Amino acid sequence: MSESIEARMRALVDEINRQNYNYHVLDQIELTDSEFDALFQELKTLEGQYPQYILPNSPTQKVGGTILKGFTEVIHEMPMLSLDNAFKEEDVVKFDERIREKLTRDEMARLNYWAEPKLDGLAISILYENGVLVRAATRGDGVRGEDVTENVKTIRCIPLVLKGDFPSRLEVRGEAFMRRSVFDALNAARLKKHEKPFANPRNAAAGSIRQLDSKIAAERQLSFYAYSIGIIENNPKPFSAHSEALAGLASYGLPICPLNERAASVADLLAYQAKILAERDQLPYEIDGVVYKVDQYDLQEKLGFVSRAPRFAIAHKFVAMEARTTVLDVDFQVGRTGVITPVARLEPVNVAGVMVSNATLHNEDEINRLQVMIGDEVMIRRAGDVIPQVIRVALEHRDEEKVRAIIFPKTCPVCDSPVERVEGEAALRCTGGFSCKAQRIERLKHFVSRKAMDIDGLGEKWLEIFVNEGLVEDPADLYTLTKAQLLELPRMGEKSADNVLASIEKSRTPRFASFIYALGIRETGEATARVLASEYASLAALRAETAENFQKIDDIGPVMANHLVEFFKQPQSCELLERLLTHITIEYPVMAPKDVTELPLLDQTWVVTGTLHHFTRESIKERLLSLGAKVSGAISKNTTALLAGEKAGSKLAKAQELGVMVMSEDEFLVKYPE
Ligand code: IVH
Repeated sequence: MSESIEARMRALVDEINRQNYNYHVLDQIELTDSEFDALFQELKTLEGQYPQYILPNSPTQKVGGTILKGFTEVIHEMPMLSLDNAFKEEDVVKFDERIREKLTRDEMARLNYWAEPKLDGLAISILYENGVLVRAATRGDGVRGEDVTENVKTIRCIPLVLKGDFPSRLEVRGEAFMRRSVFDALNAARLKKHEKPFANPRNAAAGSIRQLDSKIAAERQLSFYAYSIGIIENNPKPFSAHSEALAGLASYGLPICPLNERAASVADLLAYQAKILAERDQLPYEIDGVVYKVDQYDLQEKLGFVSRAPRFAIAHKFVAMEARTTVLDVDFQVGRTGVITPVARLEPVNVAGVMVSNATLHNEDEINRLQVMIGDEVMIRRAGDVIPQVIRVALEHRDEEKVRAIIFPKTCPVCDSPVERVEGEAALRCTGGFSCKAQRIERLKHFVSRKAMDIDGLGEKWLEIFVNEGLVEDPADLYTLTKAQLLELPRMGEKSADNVLASIEKSRTPRFASFIYALGIRETGEATARVLASEYASLAALRAETAENFQKIDDIGPVMANHLVEFFKQPQSCELLERLLTHITIEYPVMAPKDVTELPLLDQTWVVTGTLHHFTRESIKERLLSLGAKVSGAISKNTTALLAGEKAGSKLAKAQELGVMVMSEDEFLVKYPE
């Protein structure tokens, strides 16, 4: 009898641990919440009746409950070092150079890097003996940390017992962190209870790990990714590289960040950084840079350490483009397709040299996620050319007396038409269509923009005046404007009027791709417009296409296909097209569109650098694409050729180093005349 109870308890422990692993490490769900709870409850009941059979890896041990008087000190058997920082591309190039200087030719040839996000939490060391978690410690000063075993045991994705073919002694190192969603919920709850909110997820994670009551730590739902190994003894399958070690840790059941990637060269490292930076705001957790590591252990060892940081690894930190300021008000902007976007009007603040006074709040879901109110202090971040983002509310500075909720309008702030929330979309939309002045103006702005019809003499201000004066309603009206009409407008002189008319005139023969893009069909961006222009021989063919056939084209999914068909079906768009076509003549590509096998640069990857004279950055890209090439931003061993203009810098050096063909602009023009 007791044997079967013990066996049942063991089976429950295994099954619940397997479910937990699937859920917290692999993101897979097999059981419903209630099925899972039933197993958990059964195990708890049996453990209550038969405490002698409680297993060390029982999931019930993960809910915390131990209360400590204080933390004991842990002396790390191997010190936990820190990383050197790089901020600029140059620093990364130098890092690579320093490494190559110390290696022989052969070593250099097999040198490989590993690139990982730099997680913004705190470093933790976890010791497993014979596969059982026996101790966990904070990094502390690198030599001495604090024993936080009880709290680390509550982290769901950290196994209490390893699986697979593990070493007898293993120290796993990695980052404990708090996901944004958990952080947002935690702060909302603290605010409700009139407790001081945490300033950021890192502080919240650190505060949770240093809880004396492990029940509280358990409630904080921390996450963890392993990023290296400290002590390792008696490994049945010794590792020769960092990437192998991570794969080994994964096989023992430890979570590894899925965004880690191999990189062969500096160019790959920089491309990785750019990719991760672009994804940064969408990640479920905060990161403050990326980390590059030499992969091979023998090379790591040869490179060694400088003071307290390894020579074989570096942190490429994102440049801080953040600042704190106050939300003075929230306005609602109506976009080209009627989407209503809340925009925070900010107390102007200098962010890395640029004054910022607006930031987008995206939509209602984002406002709810941020819990932002008018009057709040917010952290904003600027990145490249994109509109500044609100990344977090400084809830710890909130003055309840001074804040007020953001109320979404029920009708369009511009045309007063009702507002609707589209099923499955976060956005609110004005239902006014082209009767809405804001939508008309936005649509005109898009039509005249550089990548569309490129009518450069027509700025936003003039378009607004045209619409407000009732001179222009839609893009086709631009082509019937007369000088006399223009001269009647306030502040419009002879010269401006001539300029405006001349630039409209110049736009009468658009390229097919630019014309498709200019129509502003939902979801059809520049790249899609280009694909469509190469797939269809004429506008007539495009207009006659079915959603089914659109989807046969690479990169066009069902949503985009429906928007296309919908657009060409609408009487309003048909009427607009008819009128536009009486004024303009589309210039179709000369090449037979399906004749791709004859493209001279097919399957090649080109990179462009330096100053060009004949081409703009846009037009060279376009030209290379039309010759069949792919265009990339970084040189790697997969690059076919580098088109180098004047003042070419590090990319040229890199191309020469890798033996990539380099071509000047003149050579290119001779070889591929337009
Ligand atoms: S490797 C020799 N990898 O950054 C140091 N660290 O500045 C080994 N960190 O204390 C650290 N993400 O807390 C490494 N993917 C990653 C990391 C990472 C975050 C933190 C870690 C460390 C600090 C070093």
